[in-house]
Amino acid sequence: GDGGGGGGGGGGGGDDTITMGFAQVGAESGWRTANTESIQSSAEAAGIDLQFSDAQGEQENQISAIRSFIQQRVDIIAFSPVVETGWDAVLLEAKRADIPVILTDRSVETEQEDLFVTFLGSDFIEEGRKAGEWAVENWASTGAQWNIAELQGTTGAAPAIDRQEGFAEAIAGSPNLTVVASQSGDFTRTGGREVMEAMLNSNPEINAVYAHNDDMGLGAIEAIEAAGKVPGQDIQIITVDAVRDGMQALADGKINFIVECNPLLGDQLMELAQQVLDGEEVPERVVTEETTFTQEQAIEALPDRQY
Ligand code: AHR
Repeated sequence: GDGGGGGGGGGGGGDDTITMGFAQVGAESGWRTANTESIQSSAEAAGIDLQFSDAQGEQENQISAIRSFIQQRVDIIAFSPVVETGWDAVLLEAKRADIPVILTDRSVETEQEDLFVTFLGSDFIEEGRKAGEWAVENWASTGAQWNIAELQGTTGAAPAIDRQEGFAEAIAGSPNLTVVASQSGDFTRTGGREVMEAMLNSNPEINAVYAHNDDMGLGAIEAIEAAGKVPGQDIQIITVDAVRDGMQALADGKINFIVECNPLLGDQLMELAQQVLDGEEVPERVVTEETTFTQEQAIEALPDRQY
């Protein structure tokens, strides 16, 4: 290092390197790919040795990865939980082994308070609210009847639960906004396409979509086009994330509004890890800053979009 690093008793060179075990959800979406790249490149830049594991969407894989990080005695564990519940036992094991845990992107519901040091990520309820507020301003205000298909994220995942809640809360006072169908498309493009196909078959009156992420919205666009309808016009679409493919569809007029969810958490995560291991106080909650995009704003932002 270049000095100034604190951290106590010296020791042989290699021993100072921080080892972080990171248990990722999977590779379900463009957002997730950008998030993984951010974590990997930030670890490298910070000189942190990253043990990366991909749970392929399965909680039990994530739990085994965390157990193996504990066995390897990594310095710190970070993970983005596939679902919200069922983490108490493994988090307690980490605590007993004295290995601090940082949650990134998604949080957990635990019985005990002090099972992780901090949670870095978005406010998903707020994201749902922003989507709902746009629907109230742009759909409800027309006076027409809006029959909304909701494409939910992975069942039991914090962003699915919270984005549904925030949206429902925002549209509650608008009787002409009705969610007529709501089902999980597992945050994937294929899931979004399949669920949308089925919904259009059983609810031909659908004229609006609220997808919990861009990928499901992009899958829905394929299903809408296959059904001979025009996405963005016959059926208006709101999504969450604002990854490049989503932003392109927004700029092309196929999506009507996107609420941003920022996947670039790597630098902040590495900084928090360093602080925790230096014994510094860190905030219990670090909320990611994010914005929203209309079609005009997407056209402007696209050339500089990094992911
Ligand atoms: O937890 C964040 C969500 O997970 C993103 O919005 C979605 O695209 C991803 O799969």
